[in-house]
Amino acid sequence: MKKLFIKTYGCQMNVYDSARMADLLAPLGYAPTNAPEDADMVILNTCHIREKAADKVYSELGRLKELKDKRAEAGSKMLIAVAGCVAQAEGAEIVRRQKAVDIVVGPQSYHRLPEMIARIARGTGHALETDFPVEEKFDSLPEEMTVSGPTAFLTVQEGCDKFCTFCVVPYTRGAEYSRPVAQIEREARKLAEKGVREITLLGQNVNAYSGAGLDGETWSLAQLIRRLAAIKGLDRIRYTTSHPRDMSDDLIAAHRDIEELMPYLHLPVQSGSDRILDAMNRQHTRDDYFRLVDRVRAARPDLALSSDFIVGFPGETDKDFADTLALVRQVGYASHFAFKYSPRPGTPAAGHKQIDEDVKSARLEELQTLLLAQQRDFNQSCIGKTMDVLFEKPGRKDGQAIGRSPFLQSVHAEGAAHLLGQIHKVRVDAVFPNSLKASLLTSPALASESAVAL
Ligand code: 5AD
Ligand code: SF4
Repeated sequence: MKKLFIKTYGCQMNVYDSARMADLLAPLGYAPTNAPEDADMVILNTCHIREKAADKVYSELGRLKELKDKRAEAGSKMLIAVAGCVAQAEGAEIVRRQKAVDIVVGPQSYHRLPEMIARIARGTGHALETDFPVEEKFDSLPEEMTVSGPTAFLTVQEGCDKFCTFCVVPYTRGAEYSRPVAQIEREARKLAEKGVREITLLGQNVNAYSGAGLDGETWSLAQLIRRLAAIKGLDRIRYTTSHPRDMSDDLIAAHRDIEELMPYLHLPVQSGSDRILDAMNRQHTRDDYFRLVDRVRAARPDLALSSDFIVGFPGETDKDFADTLALVRQVGYASHFAFKYSPRPGTPAAGHKQIDEDVKSARLEELQTLLLAQQRDFNQSCIGKTMDVLFEKPGRKDGQAIGRSPFLQSVHAEGAAHLLGQIHKVRVDAVFPNSLKASLLTSPALASESAVAL
């Protein structure tokens, strides 16, 4: 057996891709390891979304070069591959900067890894693949997949046609592509057979999903979700990431009608200022966003909202930033991701006059303080409430298990360690900064009976 170490940076789509790369290399005799030192192959699955994320790759490659040299001294080999969005964006430049890299493979080309490894073994130098054959990729991925626990990611859509002026995604992941419903359904059934109870449908612009349906028509994300919700054993469905412009009526109605669709929506707004939204090419106003939030909340009143925010976009004034704070106060978020604007090579906003780093830092801190207070309030509001938790892994203490609430909060409960992979009712007792503490409402005896019934 050869050993494979994969380090994943960035978004959930990279997490999915890393798992698929491991599936792809398993037939070649590669088994996963957690230790890079004794790996025969190391893959860095990289992220290019912000400068910091991309920089980390080169420092990691420096460390890997030392490991590779040590192994060479001991007479063995280590292959180093750079995959993901840095590979796509920088291509051959990576090998120029770090000679120890053997393989550079973009996010739409990793199905070619086996032949690239063979090429290296034949001693034909470095291998580079950064084409965009996205359809070919999904057609060539193995049907077999390894699952780790009762939750799984499933990529249904890739790429983006929106061209927000700050974002590299349209350049690294390419144009929007939606996988056919039949292919997705096959994968979802397989996951359910292997004990997966919750899937998160992934796409850079997942709610723009429009894939070949089962009736020859093009299906929307709502139609896809309805179909997947009928799969036995799949009790929970989520999707991420959505664009406000693509929040269609049928998707909003799905939040009202489909029980399996969890009451949680990640709906990035980025900024609360109309001027900045326009400069970002987001294609909607703050009022459009408020109206949309009202509509999804009317459909599903207990829906927990989350968003991405960027502070310090070129041209953002104190007034624009105040508009973002006001939007946050008006909407009220259960969770959030906030970032300082990071100029990305090749994107329109990178060439504009940049805001001072100090100003960006101060704004980020102020925004995060507000968002964290809202997150705390949301969690506090759950105390005393009953909710379903899908238990995913053992906790630190004996007998404890950790799972997720419908609202994606991390929940731990005593005496639940034997309930991994199952959904049970709990009552929330206390709130910690990043998790809830709850008591199991199902008695242990009943729990094992219901485990049989599930
Ligand atoms: N700078 C800072 N944040 C960015 N994001 C995307 N591009 C940039 C950038 N250049 C953030 C957005 C997006 C999330 C995935 O990353 O908020 O929604
Ligand atoms: Fe990037 Fe905008 Fe597309 Fe999201 S919608 S991936 S932020 S270009």
